[in-house]
Amino acid sequence: MMSRTLWSEAINHPKEQLPDVRGSHEFINDLTRRDQVFSFLKPPFNPKVDVKNNMLLYVEGVSVSFDGFKAINDLNLYIKEGELRCVIGPNGAGKTTMMDIITGKTKPDQGEVWLGQQLNLLKMDEAQIANAGIGRKFQKPTVFEALTVWENLELAMAGDKGTWHLFRAVLSSDQKCDIMQVLELIGLDTHYKMQAGKLSHGQKQWLEIGMLLMQKPRLLLVDEPVAGMTHQEMDRTAELLLSLAGSHSIMVVEHDMDFVRSIASTVTVLHQGHVLAEGKMKDIQDDPRVREVYLGQ
Ligand SMILES: Nc1ncnc2c1ncn2[C@@H]1O[C@H](COP(=O)(O)OP(=O)(O)OP(=O)(O)O)[C@@H](O)[C@H]1O
Ligand SMILES: [Mg+2]
Repeated sequence: MMSRTLWSEAINHPKEQLPDVRGSHEFINDLTRRDQVFSFLKPPFNPKVDVKNNMLLYVEGVSVSFDGFKAINDLNLYIKEGELRCVIGPNGAGKTTMMDIITGKTKPDQGEVWLGQQLNLLKMDEAQIANAGIGRKFQKPTVFEALTVWENLELAMAGDKGTWHLFRAVLSSDQKCDIMQVLELIGLDTHYKMQAGKLSHGQKQWLEIGMLLMQKPRLLLVDEPVAGMTHQEMDRTAELLLSLAGSHSIMVVEHDMDFVRSIASTVTVLHQGHVLAEGKMKDIQDDPRVREVYLGQ
């Protein structure tokens, strides 16, 4: 088993000289359990995000039309702090459009969207919303294929300051520790030197989630994370998202019902841009309206 001294030496070394992280597994396991997230990965305190009543995201009476077609129609949705919410619904139900609205990519015609009780997201642009603590993962992984896993996380940590100049700057031991922590969490600790382009599809998805985590978001929006994954990769993704819940709020859009069943406590069903049903997966499955529009398909 790796000693504490060796571990601290490891994180103080330049990354080229990092030991094989495989050897430090047992020690890392002492520090990180999959059901916990290290305190320094938790979102920093932001006084502007006022979650006194435990509610993080408010989407109220939101509507948006594209060429006369109402993609989102009087949508009301609330996400609590630390909650892991699954959003399901047939193709075209408005799930991605809802994420576009929350992240500022699309401005609605009507309604309100707030982060906590004080941040009006509709008055903010995409970059401001990201900086306020909302991270989004699109369906297709967008990692830098020519860079290593480590370098991808390093770049993500720099965020919008991520110039090549900064990228080449020497990392502090705290920063290295953050990266190693995320590597462990996403299960890529033995692949940190690998070119991201050589990772499997599932591993790329995890790397992208890791890249989001480097920004320490408060709310993570994840669109169809397990599409194209093997069953084993799906299980690991479920484990990863469950380990992040509590310290992060997470909204997952997913079509795979087995996956949704494995992670969801509350499921929201969208249909024609509106919430059709919301509740426990068991109740949702038994809801005849849901069966008709979705599960019965
Ligand atoms: N920019 C746009 N311009 C025109 N129509 C759009 C635009 N964005 C979305 N739509 C339409 O709005 C509706 C909702 O689309 P959206 O992509 O949000 O659905 P979804 O629930 O994510 O579906 P899927 O499960 O297939 O990903 C669709 O009919 C889509 O064609
Ligand atoms: Mg979609």
